Amino acid sequence: MLIIRKFKPDDMFSVVKLAYETLPENYNPSIFNYFYETFPDGLWVAEKLNKIIGFIIGVKTSEKKGRVLMLSITEKNRRQNIGTALLKNLLKELAKHNVRYIELEVRTDNKKAIRFYQKQGFKIVDTIKNFYQNGRPAYLMTMII
Ligand SMILES: CC(C)(COP(=O)(O)OP(=O)(O)OC[C@H]1O[C@@H](n2cnc3c(N)ncnc32)[C@H](O)[C@@H]1OP(=O)(O)O)[C@@H](O)C(=O)NCCC(=O)NCCS
Repeated sequence: MLIIRKFKPDDMFSVVKLAYETLPENYNPSIFNYFYETFPDGLWVAEKLNKIIGFIIGVKTSEKKGRVLMLSITEKNRRQNIGTALLKNLLKELAKHNVRYIELEVRTDNKKAIRFYQKQGFKIVDTIKNFYQNGRPAYLMTMII
């Protein structure tokens, strides 16, 4: 059974491991603690049979703005609407915090994620050069919720 719930400190190891295995950026593990301490309502996990199979991290950046920082689902659990469920829960939570406008960056060559975010209603509004550690560009995508 799939459970979508808020992140708990006990999930830290699984989330850091999943990020390391599935996301191309090298995140310092301490950044996850920082996000949790800054905006705990922005971290959500997907759990199946007591295993973390996906997570999303978002933050509130100003009065009415939020940002999706990371989203990942284990490879074998993709295309089962789990990413959609995590994003919907995060957006609902951000809306409770009066957020109305969401931004995110995605690699311009990450076609799957771009398709995913477009399906959720995000639109590409800009290209940001040299956005990632390796100098690759990002698309800025936004959505009003
Ligand atoms: C992007 C990602 C989070 C999507 O999660 P997911 O749970 O597989 O997505 P969903 O099943 O909710 O997909 C919803 C819709 O998004 C689109 N989509 C998702 N994956 C897609 C793919 N590989 N190719 C094309 N469209 C895709 C489809 O329209 C899909 O609907 P459909 O399956 O009915 O056609 C997942 O592929 C992932 O973890 N990728 C690696 C990490 C990453 O790139 N994260 C995002 C950048 S931080």
